[in-house]
Amino acid sequence: METRTSADLEAFQAKVESLVHQHPVVVDNRYTAWFATGAATRDEVRHLTIQFSVFSHLFVEAQMRKVINAADIESYRAGKEILMNELGVIFRSSGGLPAGEDVDADPDVVPDGTVDGGRFRFTAAHFEWLVRFGAPLGLGFGDMGKRRHGTPSTLFFCDELLRIYGSEDPSTAEGASYAVENWAAAGFWKELIAGLRAFKERECPELPLGFWIWHDRIEDQHAAHTADELTEAFFRPDFDEDRFLAGAAEMLDGVAAFWTGLESDRLGTAWRAA
Ligand SMILES: [Fe+2]
Repeated sequence: METRTSADLEAFQAKVESLVHQHPVVVDNRYTAWFATGAATRDEVRHLTIQFSVFSHLFVEAQMRKVINAADIESYRAGKEILMNELGVIFRSSGGLPAGEDVDADPDVVPDGTVDGGRFRFTAAHFEWLVRFGAPLGLGFGDMGKRRHGTPSTLFFCDELLRIYGSEDPSTAEGASYAVENWAAAGFWKELIAGLRAFKERECPELPLGFWIWHDRIEDQHAAHTADELTEAFFRPDFDEDRFLAGAAEMLDGVAAFWTGLESDRLGTAWRAA
């Protein structure tokens, strides 16, 4: 194919933007909009926690697959930053100071932090963080994060992550990555935090919100990275626009399944894959 120009990039970026920013899971997530009102009962908070723990834990598998299938050393390392941090390596600021050690206190986000030379702590693993969050809700290690705890909609999402986000085809995987990061930066963390704050104040003062607050703060940084990655990927000779767009669209449908599943559970209606 002919060499791509920066005008081609702009046209493609506009296509990608409209796909992501018009998807129902980004513009009309009914579950998180409801959750933000603070109306969730203890059982509903527990259910969200368990389903989120399954996604969050199985996400590690998809991230590992993404690392293994990385097209070049830069994206291999970018993927490993996320993977190792999920597993408990604390980001180190470029200034060399460890940060975010007390992960349950006010969690720090290190802009441009890296796991390279960072310290591993068992307690910093995101799954252990969620387990500590679950404790005041009466949930233990064995109640969370396993495939068997997932509802069909949660497992559909997790399997789509493995298939698309962890795809062997770099264009597909990059589309999925772009979709996931932009969805995550679009505000659902803030809605969950608002609902959890209300629940904490009302009936569960000991609930530690660090996991949710930290993720909300780091998302803007992730989304900025994926914009750079899109530019880099676009000029690679093997880059395929259609496969990128398909990866992004299918991944967003997977994300949507997770939330529409929670919404159906809440309303007591049956969930079906779209
Ligand atoms: Fe995480």
